[in-house]
Amino acid sequence: MSRTVPVPHGLPMERDAGPFDPPSRITELREAHPVSPMLFPDGHEGWLVTGYDAVRRLMADTRFSSRQDLGVVHVPYETPGMPAPTEPSPQMPGLFISMDPPDHTRLRRMLTGAFTVKRMKQLEEHIADIVERQLDELARLAPPVDLVKAFALPVPSLVICELLGVPYEDREDFQVNSARFLERDIALEEKMAAFGAMNAFLAELVTRKRAEPAEDLLSDLARHDDLSVEELTGIAFLLLLAGHETTANMLSLGTFALLEHPGQLAALREDPELLPGAVEELMRYLSVADIFYRYATEDVELGGETITKGSTVVVSLLAANHDPLRFEDAGALDVRRQARGHLSFGHGVHQCLGQQLARIEMRAGFGGLLRRFPTLALAVPADEVRLKSDMNIYGVHELPVTWTGTAG
Ligand code: HEM
Repeated sequence: MSRTVPVPHGLPMERDAGPFDPPSRITELREAHPVSPMLFPDGHEGWLVTGYDAVRRLMADTRFSSRQDLGVVHVPYETPGMPAPTEPSPQMPGLFISMDPPDHTRLRRMLTGAFTVKRMKQLEEHIADIVERQLDELARLAPPVDLVKAFALPVPSLVICELLGVPYEDREDFQVNSARFLERDIALEEKMAAFGAMNAFLAELVTRKRAEPAEDLLSDLARHDDLSVEELTGIAFLLLLAGHETTANMLSLGTFALLEHPGQLAALREDPELLPGAVEELMRYLSVADIFYRYATEDVELGGETITKGSTVVVSLLAANHDPLRFEDAGALDVRRQARGHLSFGHGVHQCLGQQLARIEMRAGFGGLLRRFPTLALAVPADEVRLKSDMNIYGVHELPVTWTGTAG
């Protein structure tokens, strides 16, 4: 395949094609070159992978490493507008999303038991209670209300805090710090300060759990003698961050998307049996966790190109999930579609550990919201909703909503 002109300044992120569509430059690239050379802001060349098949193959191939200490271009530091690092970032103990087998396998294995479909099913009723309580509180407020603050963020925060054994009273701190950590265009020092604060809080927490274990996931982990406090802290950081930010953004952006597609919303209200499929479709359509980085540890052929050893590879899950070669009429939101097979939870050894939990939260969250608020509507024009194009996880900063009556 002939080489394209590399993308000149990092990744196009501006949602110029609409709030739910990939940036137009990304779509053009996927159509012309699903595996495309890319020029990073520091001037070195890497690859951008946007086609569904190529992304899926890449994520299943462990020759593409997730380690942060191999190359010099890394998430989250090497993002548009950020200074280019000259040194690889150090590996953080316990952060197994940034590890390769066998180190990754060792830590992930300690957690799989806690996240099985069966264990998650047992939590279902409890999660439904948490959602209902939050909806009761929402119903007591006088609209307009910011749905992010009043519903989408509290639900997954409450769930993950309870599961891990993190005191919910401490949410202000970790919600502010994790949001700052995910911001794209802030100074590295600020990002590191947020990371440091969250780390200090969690280090103290896991030390306490080790001394006085309770009935929660972090206490169970703390019972493993072969895990250091640093590793426990890293695992707690990953679970807490991954466990609330992603799902919160799905609940708020998903609600926005449904309100902007009244036909789809009406279909879902009419037939609640569509809900599990609609959740998969919203996951596909919105792909809130979009950009991931890998690093080639060998020369690998992908989509007719040779990715040479040492290259940094950026994948766009959003672009892959909107690939018309995989999903018919991929740019449309269709709650009746068979969207399973989407890559929004990743693929391969790092496939999302919390996906069953996230599905349960989303089914309960969207289901409850639509049932209890039959007249839910945006309280501002759609183009005034602030989009998170400046964050590493997409969504909306606020979602002002209104309603005229609630149902029991
Ligand atoms: C991994 C997305 C919810 C925990 C991932 C990955 C994606 C993802 C794309 C793969 C990362 C990679 O390949 O580098 C999402 C989305 C969610 C969600 C879109 C919500 C809608 C959750 C929840 C948890 C969680 C609720 C709860 C603890 C994790 C963990 C990993 C992960 C621990 C790392 C797995 C590994 O490296 O083996 N997630 N996630 N996620 N997710 Fe999620």
